[in-house]
Amino acid sequence: MECNKIKIRNFRNIEEAEIEFDAGVNILAGDNAQGKTNLLEAISFTALGKSFRTTHEEEMIRFGAESAEISLDFTDSVRRQNITVRMMPGKRRHIEQNKVKVGRLSDIVGAFRTVLFCPEHLSLIKDGPSERRNYLDIAISQLYPVYLKSLQRYNQILKQRNQLIRRAEDDRKTFHDTVEFWSEQLAHEAAVIARYRVQYLKRAAGQIRACFAEMTDDREVPDAVYAGSSHGEPESYEDMEQTEKAYFKLLMSNHDREIGAGSTLWGIHKDDIDIQINGRSARAFASQGQQRSLALAMKLAEGEVCAEICGEKPVFLFDDVFSELDSSRRAYLSGKMKKRQVIITTCEPSGIAGGKMIRVENGKYF
Ligand SMILES: Nc1ncnc2c1ncn2[C@@H]1O[C@H](COP(=O)(O)OP(=O)(O)O)[C@@H](O)[C@H]1O
Ligand SMILES: [Mg+2]
Repeated sequence: MECNKIKIRNFRNIEEAEIEFDAGVNILAGDNAQGKTNLLEAISFTALGKSFRTTHEEEMIRFGAESAEISLDFTDSVRRQNITVRMMPGKRRHIEQNKVKVGRLSDIVGAFRTVLFCPEHLSLIKDGPSERRNYLDIAISQLYPVYLKSLQRYNQILKQRNQLIRRAEDDRKTFHDTVEFWSEQLAHEAAVIARYRVQYLKRAAGQIRACFAEMTDDREVPDAVYAGSSHGEPESYEDMEQTEKAYFKLLMSNHDREIGAGSTLWGIHKDDIDIQINGRSARAFASQGQQRSLALAMKLAEGEVCAEICGEKPVFLFDDVFSELDSSRRAYLSGKMKKRQVIITTCEPSGIAGGKMIRVENGKYF
C-alpha cells in the first residue's frame, strides 16, 4: 500500500495543496500550528471515513470556505486508485472512488489502509476501555468491511434500546412489549463483533509479544485477551450462538438496573482488552516504561496483522511520536520503519534519519 499524492482544498488551514510522497520515509517538518497534523488528518480521513480528531464536519472546513475537498491517489498491490471526498456543511458528502460515486464513506473503508500513531496512543494501556475498543474497531474495520457494517448496526440498535430504557419509567408497556426484540437484535450483532475481536486479538497478541521481546530486555511475556461482558471465556466467543445467548441473557435479566442507570449495561460497547504481562494486568502492575513499550508494540502489531491478512503493508502515519519516545524506543521504531511507507510529523526533523523532507508553513507544503 502506498500513498502517492494528495490534493487538498479548504481543509482546516490548508487553502490549496498538492503533495507527492516517497515510497519510504516522508517527514513533515514545521513549527507548531502550521498544518502538520491537519495533513495527516486529511490522509487518515480517506482511510477511515472519519476524522481521528473530530466528529464535527464543519470543524474540518476552512474558516469562511463553503466546502472542503480531499483527493488521494494511492496504489495497492493491484492498481493505482483515487478516493475523493467533498464536504459541504448541511449537505451530504460527495464521495468518489476511481471517479465512481460512492453512497457512504463507510463503503470506502478498507480500500486505503493506514496505521495511525499519535502520542495519545502511548497511554493505550492506562486509558479507559473505550480507547482500546477504538483500537480494535479501527484495525478490524479496515480489514473486514462487514465488521464495520455490523458495528454501525449495533450502534443504531443500541441507541434505540437506550431510548426505550430511558422512557421505561413513563411507558412500562412499550418497554415490556419491545425490549426482547431489541435485546435479540443487539445480542446478535454483539456475537458477530465479539468473534471478530477475539480472532483479531489472537493474531495481534503474537505480534505484540514479538515486538515487545525485540524492544526490551524483559523476559516477561505480554498477552492481549478479549475481556467481554458476556462473562464467557475468550475461546467461547468463537461459538457465535453461545455468545449471542450469553449477551441476550444479560440483556434480559437486569432490566431494573438498566432502567436505574438509564442505559444498556452489557454488550460489546462495554467490552475491553485485558493487556497482561506474565498473566497479570499490565494496567495494574506493569511499570510506566513497560506500559509505553506495550502500547508501541500494539501499534506496530496493528501494522503487522494488517500486512499478514491483506498481503500488503499499510501506510504508517506518525503524528509527533518521535519526540515522545526515549532514544532506545526511537531507534527501535526507526528500524521497524524500513521497507515501509511512513509519513511522520515533527518539530525537530534533525533526529529522524533519511527520507523525503517536506516543510510545513501556515498550511503550505514545500
Ligand atoms: N477549520 C479550520 N480553518 C482554518 N484553520 C484551521 C481550522 N481548523 C484548524 N485550523 C488551524 O490549524 C492550525 C493547527 O494545525 P495543526 O495541523 O494541528 O498544527 P501542527 O502543525 O502543530 O500539527 C491552527 O492554527 C488552527 O487554527
Ligand atoms: Mg500537530
